[in-house]
Amino acid sequence: MNARAPKGTTDMLPATARAWEYLTRTAQEMFARYGYEPVYTPLFEHTEVFTRGIGEATDIVSKEMYTFEDRSGRSLTLRPEGTASVVRSALEHTLVPQGSSIKLYYAGPMFRYERPQKGRMRQFWQIGIEILGAAEPSADAEVIVALWRFYEAVGIPASNMRLLVNSMGDEACRPAYREKVAGYIRSRAGDLCGECNRRADTNPLRAFDCKNPACAGVMAEAPLLRDELCEPCAAHYAEVKTRLDELGIPYTEEPKLVRGLDYYTRTVFEVQADAGLGSQNAIGGGGRYDRLMEAYGGKPTPGLGFALGFERTLLAMEAAGAEVPAPLLAEVYVARVDATVAGEAFAVASALRDAGVAAELDHVGRSLKSQFKQADKLGARLVVIVGPDELAAGEVTLRDMGTKEETRVALADVAGAVRRLLG
Ligand code: HAM
Repeated sequence: MNARAPKGTTDMLPATARAWEYLTRTAQEMFARYGYEPVYTPLFEHTEVFTRGIGEATDIVSKEMYTFEDRSGRSLTLRPEGTASVVRSALEHTLVPQGSSIKLYYAGPMFRYERPQKGRMRQFWQIGIEILGAAEPSADAEVIVALWRFYEAVGIPASNMRLLVNSMGDEACRPAYREKVAGYIRSRAGDLCGECNRRADTNPLRAFDCKNPACAGVMAEAPLLRDELCEPCAAHYAEVKTRLDELGIPYTEEPKLVRGLDYYTRTVFEVQADAGLGSQNAIGGGGRYDRLMEAYGGKPTPGLGFALGFERTLLAMEAAGAEVPAPLLAEVYVARVDATVAGEAFAVASALRDAGVAAELDHVGRSLKSQFKQADKLGARLVVIVGPDELAAGEVTLRDMGTKEETRVALADVAGAVRRLLG
């Protein structure tokens, strides 16, 4: 058998898993202050949720989905992102009755069949938030601020990041702009790659994202939506920027930022970090999707949110020297003098754990000397020595690993004595 994890996936070993838990804990605490509640949707959905939501002509839907038939012949797809699922769930459970709004956050694995490279996996992990029901520009600013502050909270300095913002317009101004870009692509057909030429018919705005340098050069001269926004979209965008200015959030307007999902309307944004990342430098992004609920047959419901990529965020944190707090695995090590007192040693460790102390003991038959070494390695501040002589007197020995001082304490009071010494 092949004992390796499938290509593009990896095991989250303890150091990485600890970082994931730290980020999700930080998200939980921080986004709660912004009013977000948790939501967990299934890891797979009816394929239509993604084809309709994200858009047939996107790379995600046309090339990257893990789609399969279940045993009853249903077409199911492993979620490539969280937004479509959250909106599907909000519609199914009527989470946003007319005139109300809801704020949700989520964290978990996503799946895209992409070519794996640094910061790009087939199973990757996201933390995201979504607000449904909020149409005002302050909601856009709030979501952007939450993302920015999150990165700062986990130790990525503002100087290592770049926040790009843009407006994608809406159904009033975008169709005409799309046609304009399609016309531009056709007018420069000879200078553009085959894929960009095809995009003129399917999804012209995607041409702004083409990695081919010749195409990027041609698209740099393409008409910009910024110049074609309708009045309400322009006013919305201006107000989002005002809110960001007022808080001193540094952003750069990037009129060619189109993002890889078709559901966006109006505000879109992305945070990029160069240090520690290669070409996959988008550590998070999001935007507004005011028409998505209707695409699923629901009532018009504005929505917006972001998702940040765990793997890339961690790379940016490492490049910035950000620390993931390490839990104390053993404040106290319970050492036994010999095997005759194994039962008592086990009882002492259990009593300490029950009293809320992180306690470890030997399960592999180490000598007393190597139990001390192990205690040192784990960073234990105290060692409880359990031996036949001490036990005969109803006591154990407490050794302070810093001062090397030893004291005898009553077995019945070991948890109390340990807590007093640990302060
Ligand atoms: P997205 O830009 O496709 O947006 O993904 C968000 C983040 O997930 C990216 O910025 C990146 O950090 C990470 N990411 C994406 N693909 C991969 C991959 N293959 N390997 C590693 N990391 C990856 C969304 O997913 C939208 N749902 C965001 C959103 C929420 N928009 C509105 N609400």
